[in-house]
Amino acid sequence: MSTSPIGMSGPPVEPFAPEFYQDPHPTYAWLRKHRPVHPVQFPGVRVWLVTRYEDVRALYNDPRMSVNQETANTDFHTAGMAYGAGTEMGHSLLFKDPPDHTRMRTLASKVFSARRIAGWRDTVERITDQLLDDVAPHQRVDLLGVFCYPLPIMVIGEVLGIPGNDHRKLRQWMDPLVGLSREEALAGTKSLMAYVREIITVKRADPSDDVISALIAARDGDRKLTEDELVGNVFGLISAGFETTANLIGNGVLALLDHPDQLRLLRENPPLMDSAMEEILRYDGPTATTIFRFPTEDVRVGGVVIPAGEPILMALGAANRDPEVFDDPDALDIRRGDNAHISFGRGIHHCLGAALARLEGKTALRTLLRRYPDISLAVSRQQIRYKPAVIVRGLEELPVVLQPS
Ligand code: HEM
Repeated sequence: MSTSPIGMSGPPVEPFAPEFYQDPHPTYAWLRKHRPVHPVQFPGVRVWLVTRYEDVRALYNDPRMSVNQETANTDFHTAGMAYGAGTEMGHSLLFKDPPDHTRMRTLASKVFSARRIAGWRDTVERITDQLLDDVAPHQRVDLLGVFCYPLPIMVIGEVLGIPGNDHRKLRQWMDPLVGLSREEALAGTKSLMAYVREIITVKRADPSDDVISALIAARDGDRKLTEDELVGNVFGLISAGFETTANLIGNGVLALLDHPDQLRLLRENPPLMDSAMEEILRYDGPTATTIFRFPTEDVRVGGVVIPAGEPILMALGAANRDPEVFDDPDALDIRRGDNAHISFGRGIHHCLGAALARLEGKTALRTLLRRYPDISLAVSRQQIRYKPAVIVRGLEELPVVLQPS
C-alpha cells in the first residue's frame, strides 16, 4: 500500500496519479470506506475529493457551495487548474451562483427546452446514419474519431447554428481544454473564443431559428444577458455539449464490449435501451467529477471540516459505485431498476443538456448495434487507455472492427 501526501497509509493509488485513470475504482472504494473526504495535492493547491454518494448529495443541496472561482481562497487561476479557470467561460452559468445563475438558467432553459430537444430527434438520427454510412465496415477504425466525437459536434453545431464546415475545428480547439496542460488549454480557449465572437457577429446581422440567435435576442432585446455572458454561455454550450456526449458513447461501447452477456441481452431486447443508457451513465459515465466548488464558510462534510474557500471536487464516478446506494455496484446490469446515478449532477446546476445527451447516446448505440451487431475491439483490451483528465472520463482511442470480413 502506498503512502498518502499527509503521511498516513493511503489508497492503493493516489487519485489523479498517472496509473489512477486506467481503473480508479479500487481507489474510490478505499476512499469511500476510509477517507471519504480526502485532500489531494495538485500543483500549488490542495483540493478536497468527496467520494460518498450521501456526502455528494448533501453538498449539491448546500447553498454555501459556490461555483464562482473568485470565492476560492487560493490563487486558483495560476494553480494549473485548466478547465474553464480564468477564461471567458467563467461568464457561463456553469460558474455562476444565484442570483446571476437563476437569471441565466431561466433563459437557457427556455432556449433549451424539452420540446425543442425532442424536435432535434430527426437531426440526431440523420447525422448518426450519415456518419455510419461513411465508415468502411471491415477496416479497423478509431470509433472515437469517426463516430463518437463527430456525432455530438455535428449535432451541437446544427442546434447552435454553426456552419458545417467549421465543426471539425471545434474539436481541435476543445481537445486541450479537458487535458492537464494549462498553456494548451488557454490556447484552445483563445481560438474558440475568437470563433464564438465571430459567429455572434454573423448571427446578429443574419439571425435564424437556432440557439445562438435565440440567446442574441435575449441579450439585445430584453437586456437579460451582458455581452460577456452571451459569449461565455455560447462557449459553455459548445464545450459542455460534445466532450461529455462523445465520451458517453465511447465509454458505453467499451462497457458493452467488456460484458458480452449484457451486449447480447441488449441486442436481443432493444427496449432495454432506456435502462441500459442509465446504467452506462452510472457504471462509467463521462463526468468523473463535478467542476470545483468553494464553500463560502467552513463546512463539515463526512466528519471533516473544509475551510472556507478551499476547492472541493465531488467524485461522481465514485458516488455512482457507492454500495450504500447501489446493489452490486461494480457490475454492469442493463436491467438495473431505480437507478439514481448522479452523472448529470443535482440541484440548480443539474445538466441542462441531459435530455439531448440521452437522445444522442441512445440513438448512437441503437444504430451502431443494429447496423454492426458484430462490432469488436481491434486491439487487446490492455491497449485501451483512458485520458489523463480530472473532470472528464473518456478514452484516448477506441480501435474497433465494425464487421469482420
Ligand atoms: C452541467 C453532465 C451533456 C450542458 C452539467 C453537470 C454535469 C453534467 C455533471 C453539473 C456540473 C456540476 O455540478 O459541477 C453531463 C453529461 C453529459 C452532458 C454526463 C453527456 C453525457 C451536456 C449537453 C449539454 C450540456 C449535450 C448542452 C448542449 C450543460 C450545461 C450545464 C451542465 C449548460 C450547466 C448547468 C448549470 O450550471 O445550471 N452537465 N452533461 N451538457 N451541462 Fe451537461
